[in-house]
Amino acid sequence: MLTLRPIGFVESPYQETSQVPRGLGAQHHAEGVLRILPEFEPGLTDIEGFSHLFVIWAFDRSQGVELIGRGPADERPHGVFATRSPRRPNPLALTVVELLRREREVLFVRGLDMLDRTPILDIKPYLSSIAPEKLRRGWLAEVEAR
Ligand SMILES: C[S@@+](CC[C@H](N)C(=O)[O-])C[C@H]1O[C@@H](n2cnc3c(N)ncnc32)[C@H](O)[C@@H]1O
Repeated sequence: MLTLRPIGFVESPYQETSQVPRGLGAQHHAEGVLRILPEFEPGLTDIEGFSHLFVIWAFDRSQGVELIGRGPADERPHGVFATRSPRRPNPLALTVVELLRREREVLFVRGLDMLDRTPILDIKPYLSSIAPEKLRRGWLAEVEAR
């Protein structure tokens, strides 16, 4: 077993999951804050130089696990590891946000899709190295083509 501890918490405009845009073509422009615990502030040194960040966080309010399920984008069922469903064996989530500015241990960001008070487990700079023409989008490409 693993024990993870939050490095901070999200301050998001979303209080309930129904408020988060979802489904095909959903856009995430919500602004908010990643408030990192003061003890970890030294770990933010030099983060200002990056335009986008990976935020790894916990689905702390998801319920249960669904290995095969239907999401808002498609009526067909898919395996959990082929989706971004919150109902996963390990309730971990990954969101790319735009870093707007930093004030000490507070990161102001755009592109949130998580609820207010969500625990943050890690932050890493976003570096995309895969050429767009090499990316395959699986079942999502079929839905988008309809
Ligand atoms: C489809 S998941 C995608 C999350 C992340 N971008 C990912 O790919 O792992 C986003 C949904 O998770 C739900 N959600 C957001 N914050 C949550 C939390 N703290 N606990 C449980 N569910 C949450 C909301 O319903 C939101 O629409």
